Amino acid sequence: MQKEDLAFFRKWFSDYILDFYSSDPFVRENIDLKAKHTKKVCENILLLAKAEKLGEKESLLAETVALFHDLGALNSF
Ligand SMILES: [Fe+2]
Repeated sequence: MQKEDLAFFRKWFSDYILDFYSSDPFVRENIDLKAKHTKKVCENILLLAKAEKLGEKESLLAETVALFHDLGALNSF
């Protein structure tokens, strides 16, 4: 896992989330909430990775897992 891979996945995730936005304020609000939640999960997993003294590649992988952890939940909107 390289930094470039994570950058690609972040861009993919951002584009993926855009597909779920709609004119419905309720849906928009919940997609925004899910995006913020995912950002916090990514931040927290990096704190855990640091605490566990993971290497760079493992930390990148951990962040990728955090980024994708709720993909299935987005399909419920
Ligand atoms: Fe989640």
